[in-house]
Amino acid sequence: MQWGRPMSKVAAIFDSMSYGPAPEADGAARAWLAAHGSRFGLYINGSWAAPLGGDVHFDCRNPASGEKLATLAVAGPDDVDAAVAAAAAAAAGWGKRRGHERARVLYALARLVQKSSRVLAVLESLDNGKPIRETRDIDIPLVARHFYYHAGCAQLLPQEAPGMVPLGVVAQVIPWNFPLLMLAWKIAPALACGNTVILKPAEFTSLTALYFAELCQEAGVPPGVVNIITGPGETGQALVDHPGVAKIAFTGSTEVGRIIRARTAGTGKKLSLELGGKSPFIVMEDADLDGAVEGLVDAIWFNQGQVCCAGSRLLVEESVAQRLLAKIKARLEKFRLGDPLDKCIDMGAIVDPIQRSRIDQLVCQAEAEGGQVWRAPVARPETGCYYLPTLITHLGTANTAWREEIFGPVLAVMTFRSVTEAMQLANNTRFGLSATIWSENINRALELANAVKAGVVWVNCTNQFDASCPFGGYKESGFGREGGLLGLDEYLKPKREWLNEGAVRLSAPSRVADASHGDDLIDRTAKNYIGGKQTRPDGGDTRLVTTHDGRPAGRVSLGSRKDIRDAVEAAFNAESWAKASAHLRAQILFYVAENLSIRAQEFKHRLVDLTGVSAAAAGREVAASIERLFGYAAWADKFEGVVHRPPARALALSVHEPLGIVGVVCPDPLPLLGFISLVAPVIAVGNRCVAVPSERYPLLATDLYQVLDTSDLPAGVVNIVTGASELLTKTLAEHDQIDGLWYHGSAQGSRQVEAASIGNLKRTWVNDGRARDWWSSVTGEGRAFLSAASQVKTIWLPYGD
Ligand code: NAI
Repeated sequence: MQWGRPMSKVAAIFDSMSYGPAPEADGAARAWLAAHGSRFGLYINGSWAAPLGGDVHFDCRNPASGEKLATLAVAGPDDVDAAVAAAAAAAAGWGKRRGHERARVLYALARLVQKSSRVLAVLESLDNGKPIRETRDIDIPLVARHFYYHAGCAQLLPQEAPGMVPLGVVAQVIPWNFPLLMLAWKIAPALACGNTVILKPAEFTSLTALYFAELCQEAGVPPGVVNIITGPGETGQALVDHPGVAKIAFTGSTEVGRIIRARTAGTGKKLSLELGGKSPFIVMEDADLDGAVEGLVDAIWFNQGQVCCAGSRLLVEESVAQRLLAKIKARLEKFRLGDPLDKCIDMGAIVDPIQRSRIDQLVCQAEAEGGQVWRAPVARPETGCYYLPTLITHLGTANTAWREEIFGPVLAVMTFRSVTEAMQLANNTRFGLSATIWSENINRALELANAVKAGVVWVNCTNQFDASCPFGGYKESGFGREGGLLGLDEYLKPKREWLNEGAVRLSAPSRVADASHGDDLIDRTAKNYIGGKQTRPDGGDTRLVTTHDGRPAGRVSLGSRKDIRDAVEAAFNAESWAKASAHLRAQILFYVAENLSIRAQEFKHRLVDLTGVSAAAAGREVAASIERLFGYAAWADKFEGVVHRPPARALALSVHEPLGIVGVVCPDPLPLLGFISLVAPVIAVGNRCVAVPSERYPLLATDLYQVLDTSDLPAGVVNIVTGASELLTKTLAEHDQIDGLWYHGSAQGSRQVEAASIGNLKRTWVNDGRARDWWSSVTGEGRAFLSAASQVKTIWLPYGD
């Protein structure tokens, strides 16, 4: 048979899928390195500078070969000072430029990224070890898209965010897994909003950031607006600690995120954290299994699994588990590991030998704990930093591989039998960055998408990103969102938010008498309000509250740690409030307002008596409180979400979800209006609340018990514990079931709240000792409160076949 042979050769090629190598040329990237003598300084104030602390440098290497690529400077404290000074000097000018002028600069950056896309893609692959296919087709196009999108944001900012101003100098610390993309996620919105930045790339992967510095020069970014300093964690820490910095945006490990939260506590610096994950990839029995396998390849073997939102926990319905596993193994047996610059490979190199040994250690630990490890039987280059695609089965929920972020090409597998079980297993993690759901039944998929606690949910797709779609975590995966108009909130502040010191009239301090005084009031002791019931304080202690002129006014409970714990438990049991319709929440808030207005006179007298304000002023405070309740009743069913149209065959829905249980520590000034202005937005968006009222005037809050009782508010939605604010606040801050904590009190108290909240990285909102104008509907009410009470979940829904 003359033509049988070629046929069988073609068949054999199809069968083996073995392409020859197709390497991308690296000449241009290497020429750029050579033009710099493979040695780089720091980019400060628009030009290159040698480190001030002397000749301190480190090497940067190609993980695929171990070859040294360049020598980079270590920025020390003096360099950080110089960079902050340059950014501060540039801040006023850049912040005052018209939106259109900033838009032109961002547009120029977008165009330059596109024009340099090939060299950037190669440089990124050389430096990081990720396949050129990914840098060329995903990372760099998304970088350009980010600058385009934010050029538009800069243009529209005056109309879209009136009354908002830039923060000033922003410090940005990024990781090594998506070096240039993370730079774009950080720098583009900061610049669009008129801030100046100092960016510290990760020590393993700084090259594309240094290349970007030159694009800034070319694009006409004014000196000092973008500064790029290289170095290890210590450089990042010096930057975070610098008093000239107004905001820190960090992406990296949860461990470092916690350190940064603790070190910035009480400094008033704004903070956003995008941290680790252990994201579920849920495959239902009705899923397109072949599609799910390709999805998994993108979820956990994309970028060698070094992705914060990697689908690293496979949850598969038991009935299809064997079939799916067989398909995954068959796919992995054809996997190609190799030179990142080869266009035909599936997986490149791990970023650094340190990271590879960290991965291996965690896999060995998982095996020692009973996990069954399967490594893809594929060839691996003899030199370079590679790790085989790995599956781990036979896991319990306590196994390291199920709990910890491995940050490598390692998939942990578990089965489930029902949607409820899938949901419980998916949510049984301290993280909440993303989730993937694979099902042909849109009803089941959306039910899960709604129930899963994660900032991003992909339905029948995975690892989709776009500049228009917010990205960020729930729980210990961090807080703040990047992307979309929402992401701009991280880089803006209201022009007027706080009152100047002393501007609010503080009523004369009440004389807090010793418990031995005023025993005749013992029968008028206000208890705590927990789970819809008035409950005695656990320790049985009470204290006297006096009127503004020192007369006994009543007694209140001295709440303890145990009372806070009971209140949190009651709030936990009231979870159905989160699922109640927004219409119902609105109705109940209207009803609270109505019942308060029926008792307006009583509250007015109480205010006069306790705080010493005039009857007219007290009347105004009660009226303003009723109006505020109306305000949040109105907002309850209007703070909804947005539909995005990313450049893909998909819709992305951003919906606001409650945080969960929120602690609220209320201020002394305007004790009724302050209390209502904080509690109402918290419950309006579906949170349950544990409130600590004003320490000096708690009776205004305890008088509300009957108002709440008669307003159909379900038990446990609002819980009130009176007593020593400091002790109760500390207990709230340390409690791991509290998801958010709002604090209005002293600067010292604010610091304590932020420092003590690192356990579960709860969302904190503090006043740093400043006073808010509660009368104003601009600074005392509205979106800022609703945003702080909620978190955004973005659900991606692809369409078409
Ligand atoms: P890392 O969190 O230590 O580093 C991220 C960035 O923070 C780098 O630029 C680093 O120089 C800087 N940094 C380190 N310590 C700092 C400090 N005290 N103050 C300010 N900046 C500091 O992450 P690393 O060591 O590179 O990786 C360790 C583990 O973290 C990985 O195995 C992975 O599990 C996780 N990780 C998660 C990432 C994510 O996107 N969620 C990204 C990178 C790492």
